[in-house]
Parts: sequence; C-alpha cells; structure tokens
Amino acid sequence: MCGIVAYIGEKQAYPILIKGLQRLEYRGYDSAGVALLNGSVKVFKKKGKVSELVYHASQQDTTGTIGIGHTRWATHGKPDDINAHPHTSGNGRLTLIHNGIIENYNAIKESLLNRGHEFRSQTDTEVLVHLIEEIQSQNNIPLEEAVRLALNQVIGAYAIVVMDANDPDKLVAARKSSPLVIGIGKGEFVIASDASPLVDYTKQVVYLNDNEIAVVHRNGELQIKTTNNELQDHKVQEINLQIEQLEKGDYEHFMLKEIYEQSKTIGDCMRGRLNASEGWVRVGGIEDSIEHFTNAKRIIIAACGTSWHAGLIAEYLFEELARIPVEVEYASELRYRNPIIKENDIVIALSQSGETADTLAALELAKDKGAMIYGIVNVVGSSIARVTDAGSYIHAGPEIGVASTKAFTSQVTLLAMMAITLGYRRGTIPKSYYHQLLEGLESIPAKVEKLLKLNDKIKYIASEIKDSSNALYLGRGYNFPIALEGALKLKEISYIHAEGYPAAEMKHGPIALIDEDMPVVVIATNKSSYEKIYSNIQEVKARKGVVIAIVPEGSTEISKIADYTIEIPDTEEPLTPLLSVIPLQLLSYHIALMRGCNVDQPRNLAKSVTVE
Ligand code: F6R
Repeated sequence: MCGIVAYIGEKQAYPILIKGLQRLEYRGYDSAGVALLNGSVKVFKKKGKVSELVYHASQQDTTGTIGIGHTRWATHGKPDDINAHPHTSGNGRLTLIHNGIIENYNAIKESLLNRGHEFRSQTDTEVLVHLIEEIQSQNNIPLEEAVRLALNQVIGAYAIVVMDANDPDKLVAARKSSPLVIGIGKGEFVIASDASPLVDYTKQVVYLNDNEIAVVHRNGELQIKTTNNELQDHKVQEINLQIEQLEKGDYEHFMLKEIYEQSKTIGDCMRGRLNASEGWVRVGGIEDSIEHFTNAKRIIIAACGTSWHAGLIAEYLFEELARIPVEVEYASELRYRNPIIKENDIVIALSQSGETADTLAALELAKDKGAMIYGIVNVVGSSIARVTDAGSYIHAGPEIGVASTKAFTSQVTLLAMMAITLGYRRGTIPKSYYHQLLEGLESIPAKVEKLLKLNDKIKYIASEIKDSSNALYLGRGYNFPIALEGALKLKEISYIHAEGYPAAEMKHGPIALIDEDMPVVVIATNKSSYEKIYSNIQEVKARKGVVIAIVPEGSTEISKIADYTIEIPDTEEPLTPLLSVIPLQLLSYHIALMRGCNVDQPRNLAKSVTVE
C-alpha cells in the first residue's frame, strides 16, 4: 500500500518519478506527490491519480536531478492535497515519503506539540519528519544518523526516503516490514517500493532488509547500516523483468491482459516442473524438503483474499490426493489467536505480492513456534520469499490489475503439482490416476485458450445482468472456492454486492434472497455432484432466480433449465477450478466495464496490502 520512488543522478528526476509513480499506482491512488531539490525544495501534491498531479505540475518548474515521489493509499487522514506525501519538516529542510503505519505516532506527536512543533496534516508521516528534523537540528548530526535515532523511537511499519535541502548529493532510505528496493544505475540510483520503476534504468538491485538504513550518494556510493548502527554488506542481484510485462500492450486494461495471459502463465508455472509424456512432476522447493513434506502430519495454509481462495482449493487437493490434513487460515486471524502449531507442521504462506502484512506476520508466528515455513509467491525477492525456509515462485509475471486473476490460476497450478507429487510419493493415488492428472494439467493451457474464445458470449451475459444490485455464486467441492472467488471478483470491481456459498448451504439462508432480480451463478462442473447441483438449480428456478450455469462441455440437463450456460472443456475434477474461474473473471470484467467502473484500480483498494 502506497508506492514510493526516489531518484538521484545526472538525469532530470521529475519524468523518472512520474513514470515510476504510474507504475506503482496499483499500490494506492488516493493522492500523489513529488518533491524536487534544485537549490530549493519544490513540493507538488494533489488528491487523486498521478495524472492529476501531472496536470497540477504542468506549468511549474520541475527541474532538478534529485527528488522523491509518492502515490498514496490513505491510512491516517483523508485523501486530500494536504495529507498527500511528501511531507516537509517544520523548518522546511527535510522532505519525506512513507509507506506503512507509525503506530505510536500519537504519543510522539503529543510530545512534539509540547515542544512547539506545528502540524499541517493529519498523517503519521508528518510526525516522523518532524521528529527527524528535531533530532538532526538539536544534535547537528548527518541526516542518516538523525533518521536512525528517530526510527529507534518508532513502533510500526515503514519504508521511507528522506531528502535534505542542505545536502543535494544524497538520499536516505530505510525499511521495516514494508518493501524497498534500490536500483543501481550508471551514476544514478532509483529507489522504489518494487522493481517496476527501475527497469528502464538498471537491472542491478539491492533489496533492503528490515531495520536497515541506506544512504545513496550522487558519486555512486551506497552504504547500508542497521538501526543498531552496524555496517552491513549488501548483495547486488539482477532482476529478470521486461518493460513489456509492465505495459498494457494492445489491451484496454491490465485486468483483461492478465486474464488473457493465463494460457501462457499456467504453462510458465509448469515449465521445467512437469512432463506428462515422461511421467514426472518436480517442484524444486518440495524436492529440497521432501522428507518433511512426505512425513507431514498437518499443513496449515495462511493467506488473504484471492490467495486464501487458492488455499481452500489446496485443502481439497492435498486431502484428497495426498491424504494430508490441511487447515486454511485467514492470516489476519491466525496471527492474533493462540494457534496450536507444532514443529512437524508445515505452514504455507500463499501470496501474490509476497508483501501482505498479515500473511508475513502469520508466517513469523509459525516460525517462532518451530514449524517449517514454505512460501508460494509471485513477486521475486519479496519479503515472504526472503523469510521462508523453502518455497516456490509461481512465475505469473507482474500482476498489475488490482483484482488478482493470473496469479490465482498459477497458485492453483503450483498447488496441484505439489498435491500430485505428494500423492504419488506417499502412495495415496494410483499410478494410473497420477498419469491422468499430469496429462490433465499439461493440457490446461490449451483449454484456457479455448475458453477465452467464449468472451463475446460472456460479454452478452454480462449485459443482461449488469444492473443487478446483488448476486449469488454457488459451487460444490473443488468449485466452492471458485464460488467465493467469483463473488469476490464481482464485488471488488463492479461494486455489486455478491456472496459465494457452498451450493447446498443455499437452503440454510440465502435462498430467502432469491427472486427474479437475483442472478445466481452456479458452478456445476463437478461430475461427482452433477445431480445434486442440478437439484439446487431447480430450487433457484422455482423461485424465479436467473441462473448462469458453468457446466462441463456437452451437459444437456442443466442447459435445459438454466437461463444461460457457459461450457468448460472436460478435465479431471480436481483441475476444474483452473477452468471454471476464467468465465467468472471475464463476467466481472465486462459487468464492471459496462457500469463505468475503473476495472484496474477499483475504489478503496490497493494491490499490495502492506498494512494491517
Ligand atoms: C482480490 C485480491 C486480494 C488479494 C489479497 C492478498 O482480487 O487481489 O484479495 O488476493 O489482498 O494479496 P496477496 O496475494 O498479494 O497476499
């Protein structure tokens, strides 16, 4: 949440900062701002998107070869021009950008107020820049030392960059529980919340660790210390990120691009890990800890949102195929109760961003309790990837649309490969079924391709139900989590209230809601429960509900009674979620678009939830 970017070098900073903010906008888009130093400091900030900031600054002097920029997802203080970052110290010397929350800011603010400080905004960030200024001016010490002493008084999460008007040749950056990456170019540094603003200038990066403070100098020097004042060695890594992956190309929206990419990204997730004709599947992270996995008494999966839905599918997969008991936990709940986690448990964190604060905290709790922790993430070098004992990347490439699509199907692909591997190794699935599942998985990308051809039909269905105020999604077994995911996709981007339910639970309450204005999306792709779900559809139709049924190819019974049907290609039942979710993603996309919603940047949301 919140994107930060900073530049020091020989080029003009402003265009670099703006381009960087546009790339980071998925992290928050309530307001945006930049500060540039060129003799004096100039700050431009504006409520709304980065485009509003660009308009605001268009007639101004934006020259300078050092600067900082921020795009905000509001926590403390409403989204407006004043609360927008950067924030400036009382004497005007320091400007600061911040991603995170300073939890004890009230206490610090109180004592600063008592000492005569005056605040313009309602933010926790302004308190921090005043604190740094006070320490710096009272002790007459370098900026980095003032930052270090201030951070020792702070409780909370932060990624910050600070600029000193009296020292135009350096920037100071620090992190704790919020990501920060330093790009090292030729005679320049770009610092940002993720690598996307850096790729135009360099592929050489240093990921800052928690409790580290970095000083970057115009002369190319980089120094990193801990908040305990210990000098740190830093490892320069090369990032594998292409500029085209960060752009929409010919698509109108990132979400649509990412939906269409899925035939490729699911394949990328399997590449080098599965070969059906040779009859093998190997997920590196598991192979390295195979004893642990095959002997596991229990797996706990911690995740949030869409990743939690992928985790729920994993529960069905691991329990059915590998006969390992699984618990799927909302990370935000797991971290605050007193869970029973034992040393021979495996705790898997599932996260696209690898930065979700609750998931990270749940993982740390599990680590403290001695469990093996395993990360399944998309973003390379992210915090979760770096704290886990072992793990796997899903290789979906950058996901920029705020609503998760391709990361979800890649997560499910990876989890399916894990479950099949463990089922085979533990002898809980027959060899013939093992081979059938490998072939099934390998053929998924082609089936996704085929499904995407139904886009026009799905668009038509969207036009028929777009004015609804509510929607119900029903599914059973492997497709119950898809009902939850379909409902989440619809509500988050179209603002239609939607609920996902296990189909049989409908009779225990939600059936009361059904009338002719209620679209009911039924995921009826499980052959094992086809008759039962057929009955559920009859019950909806008897109450005049509008049924959109996702059915297996050639299904005639349900097609006769449903108002609309979307057929998915035939596959093994455990793999059906990989197909049944695709039409639901497209349905939400088209409905949101027809309702005039901002599909890629839905209101109030941000992609990387780095605060609780
Ligand atoms: C929904 C969505 C969110 C995320 C959730 C977890 O479309 O994107 O629900 O799934 O915030 O994020 P990650 O996977 O990054 O931990």
